[in-house]
Amino acid sequence: MKFFADTAVVAEIDELNSYGLLDGVTTNPSLIAKSGRDFKEVVAEICALVDGPVSAEVAALDFDGMVAEGEHLAKIAPNVVIKLPLTLDGLKACRHFTAKGIKTNVTLCFSANQALLAAKAGATYVSPFVGRLDDIHIDGMDLVREIRQIFDNYGFETQILAASVRSANHVKEAALAGADVATVPAAVIKGLASHVLTDKGLAQFAKDWAATGQSIL
Ligand code: E4P
Repeated sequence: MKFFADTAVVAEIDELNSYGLLDGVTTNPSLIAKSGRDFKEVVAEICALVDGPVSAEVAALDFDGMVAEGEHLAKIAPNVVIKLPLTLDGLKACRHFTAKGIKTNVTLCFSANQALLAAKAGATYVSPFVGRLDDIHIDGMDLVREIRQIFDNYGFETQILAASVRSANHVKEAALAGADVATVPAAVIKGLASHVLTDKGLAQFAKDWAATGQSIL
C-alpha cells in the first residue's frame, strides 16, 4: 500500500520524504486554509519536493468551472492530480481530464455506488472518506472493502485511496482491506514506527551494550 501525506505543510512533507516513506501528497481546501499559504504557490513547492502524485482540489462546483480550474492547476507541474468532487459535474470533469491524459482523484466518496461511478468515469483515484463515516457511526472500512470487491469483480484500474484516515488502526485496516493508497496525516505516519516494546528493548540493549565497554567504530 502506498502512503500519501494528507497535508499542505511543506516542512512535514520534507521530513517524511527524508525517511523515504512518501509516495505522494493530498491536499484539500481545508488543509490549504490551515497552512495559511497561497494555494498555487504551495502546490508548486510540494510538487517540486515530491517524486509522486500531488492532489490539488478544484473549488468550482460546476463542470465548466472545474475544467477551467483543473486545467490551470494541471499546468503547475506534471505530477499534479486534479481532485474533483463526487458529483455529476465532478464525474463529467473527471471524464474530461481522463480523456486528456490528466490524472484525477475523485473525492468525498461515501458509498460503493459513488466509487463505481468514479471508476466508470476513468478516475485515477477514488477517495472513500473512512474517518468521516466513522464519525457518523458507519464503519468506513466496510466501504473500502466493498469498493475493493467491486473493482476486482470488473477489473477497474481506478486506485482506492483511503482518505480521512486518522489513526494507526485505520492504516492497518486500510492495508488489510486492500486499499491501493492511504492518505494519512504526517503525525500518524510517523507514529506507525512506534511501539512500547521497541522502546523498552532498545533501552535494554543500550544498557547492556554500555556494560560491554566496547565501541563499534
Ligand atoms: C484527503 O484527500 C481528504 O481530503 C482528507 O483525508 C479528509 O480528511 P478529514 O476527514 O480528516 O478532514
